[in-house]
Amino acid sequence: MRHFLNLTAAGADGVAAMLAEAIDRKAARAGFPKGRADADAPLAGHVLAMIFEKNSTRTRVSFDMAIRQLGGSSIVMDAGSMQLGRGESIADTARVLSGYVDAIMIRTDDHAKIEDMARHATVPVINGLTDQSHPCQIMADLQTILEDGKALPGLKMAWLGDGNNVLASLIEAAGLMQFDVVAACPQGFMPSEADVALGQGRARVVASPQEAVEGADVIVTDTWISMGQAHAETKLAAMMPYQVDEALMARAKPDARFLHCLPAHRGEEVVDAVIDGPQSLIWQEAGNRLHAQKAVLRWVFGQIG
Ligand code: CP
Ligand code: NVA
Repeated sequence: MRHFLNLTAAGADGVAAMLAEAIDRKAARAGFPKGRADADAPLAGHVLAMIFEKNSTRTRVSFDMAIRQLGGSSIVMDAGSMQLGRGESIADTARVLSGYVDAIMIRTDDHAKIEDMARHATVPVINGLTDQSHPCQIMADLQTILEDGKALPGLKMAWLGDGNNVLASLIEAAGLMQFDVVAACPQGFMPSEADVALGQGRARVVASPQEAVEGADVIVTDTWISMGQAHAETKLAAMMPYQVDEALMARAKPDARFLHCLPAHRGEEVVDAVIDGPQSLIWQEAGNRLHAQKAVLRWVFGQIG
């Protein structure tokens, strides 16, 4: 049985197969009116349970739409309204849900919880974000880059700001798909050595934002304060030199693109002129969550890869 807790679980071949599926299935829907499921309904009858221990807009709606377009359906639960929210264990929740549904997606804080869920579930478990990683986001990001006509091997991606969960998954993807990540993060907010090691030599961390973006093909950033973190003025101050503005973008390649997983905090990690500017692919990136999620769902059920 396949769980999608991280990108390594799928391997380079699995990630490549999912990206191809996402791009092809999206293209096949071009010109489709809204309100139509995919004609082949490859997951007809399948039910996805989604558990949210943290807020979500994109992950929640894109997974829900993904399973519906594939012919299945979903049950969306906030942990606070489940017995999980009053102390029932992850393990027992996994055992019970496995008796009802065909797959479980969970967004939670401690990554150990999702590993626990996968250990005790007898259906596939999908990582909808933990404090440690956000692999579904990076699938959509890679799809967006490919659709822009850039091949992944040898690409230079620059990350600016917080050494967080999204960066960890980007680094993991770099190791698998053979592109480079240069992350510029302030002291105290750099990714862990374990996260950098996921890049298998493809990731490095620098202090200088200018150095990171020099000649980059893609510039990526994210909120400076992730869900569950304290809103600290000291952290915001340390991050200010890493704000993505027009001057930083100008140091990247002329055809460089800007990505942000959203939600954005405009005026903090990025200025309006960049996020709304001609190099930004953020709406395509957000839209691709739907198509990437469909590929992840088909992958966990063994239909592709
Ligand atoms: N990018 C992302 O995961 O967005 P949500 O938090 O809205 O799901
Ligand atoms: N790093 C952010 C990503 C949100 C999609 C967070 O964890 O809050």
